[in-house]
Amino acid sequence: MSIVDLAALGESFTRDPYPVYARLRAQGPVHRIRMPEGNAEAWLVVGYEAGRAVLTDPTLSKDWAKASPSLPLGAISSGPHMLRADPPDHTRLRKLVAREFTTRRVEALAPSIQKITDALLDRMLTAPDGRADLVEALSFPLPISVICELLGVPDLDRASFRTWSNDALGATDPEARTAAAASMARYLEELLANKRQQPGDDLMSALIHGSDDGGDRLSADELRGMAWLLLVAGHETTVNLITNGVLALLTHPEQLAALRADLTLIDSAVEEMLRYDGPVETPTYRFTTEPLTIGDTVVPGGGELVLVALADADRDPARFPSPDRFDITRDTRGHVAFGHGIHYCLGAPLARLEARIAIRTLLERCENLALDIHPAAITWRPGLMIRGPQSLPVRFAP
Ligand code: HEM
Repeated sequence: MSIVDLAALGESFTRDPYPVYARLRAQGPVHRIRMPEGNAEAWLVVGYEAGRAVLTDPTLSKDWAKASPSLPLGAISSGPHMLRADPPDHTRLRKLVAREFTTRRVEALAPSIQKITDALLDRMLTAPDGRADLVEALSFPLPISVICELLGVPDLDRASFRTWSNDALGATDPEARTAAAASMARYLEELLANKRQQPGDDLMSALIHGSDDGGDRLSADELRGMAWLLLVAGHETTVNLITNGVLALLTHPEQLAALRADLTLIDSAVEEMLRYDGPVETPTYRFTTEPLTIGDTVVPGGGELVLVALADADRDPARFPSPDRFDITRDTRGHVAFGHGIHYCLGAPLARLEARIAIRTLLERCENLALDIHPAAITWRPGLMIRGPQSLPVRFAP
């Protein structure tokens, strides 16, 4: 099988990967690729059925110790965590925080999410020229504020944290990724030490001091990994749901008008934003532990890297008719923007709630919201994992 060099496709692929994935899908469900990050080779799975099957295949491991030593991966996280664990470790780690992320618990955060959104928009709307970068003004600060409040770390050094986290997930050079992950590990170590001394009534303190019903507790390394995962997963993704979602509305005026005319469509609009241009293009790494048959191809065992193109699964016409059409009233059930199987996103109820409140309030307060950049001129974040614009200039003056 010939290698598809995604790195060689450059900026046009980063800006619009969908046609590339669709062409691959027409040829078959699995392809050997060279990744834009670190030149590692991987097996890319396209299409809805094949993608879902791989996400639930029990022979694929998420444990980096199972990765082939020949893979130039570069660390991205700051400790062991559930997205790098298989059962029974995964089950145990997930159970320790799952109760914090139930729909009911999350709904209780709505008033504070609304308050933060209102304050951010108050500030944005004072811009004398009626212009702003939506990422700086709303999409970035909202999720990071919410997750910091939930975890009980209001004094997080957000600027540094954002740089490390962006580099750890998106840098194309493995050494830069490893360096960013190490800086973040040192920082989290300090943060946890402070929390240990001054516990509060928050999730991080509960994780440090508490234990579940069976008396289970996190080790120091696991605690750092959990803090890393929740902080990074809690903001890297939701930022792009808000930005990509607003971008989709502003480039589809009839959909924007339909939503403005009936804001009760917001829930369904957010689901379509997730399907149409979700924040996670390919999810975290999976490694083969034995030969895996996908279509007519046998992917060898021994720690081969398997990536699922979630972005393509959600644009597969076999599952979603006219998939390239953005339609806020369509039936989006079964989309895989939050993954599928045992690693299905724990934060999905929180991400949905934040996006609904942020986008609804933005539309209510900015009647004249419009793009302030040609869509083709937007710079997108590099790397295969996270999809979203670096910045999104908008104008809102009457
Ligand atoms: C729009 C926003 C979000 C998207 C699109 C998203 C997407 C995903 C995806 C695709 C996975 C599965 C990864 C895989 O199987 O390799 C995942 C897992 C996870 N997400 Fe999210 N996520 C979002 C927001 C959040 C938030 C706000 C949090 C928490 C504060 C969060 C916490 C997690 C955790 C802890 C996992 C790992 C679950 C496990 O391994 O069992 N996510 N997310």
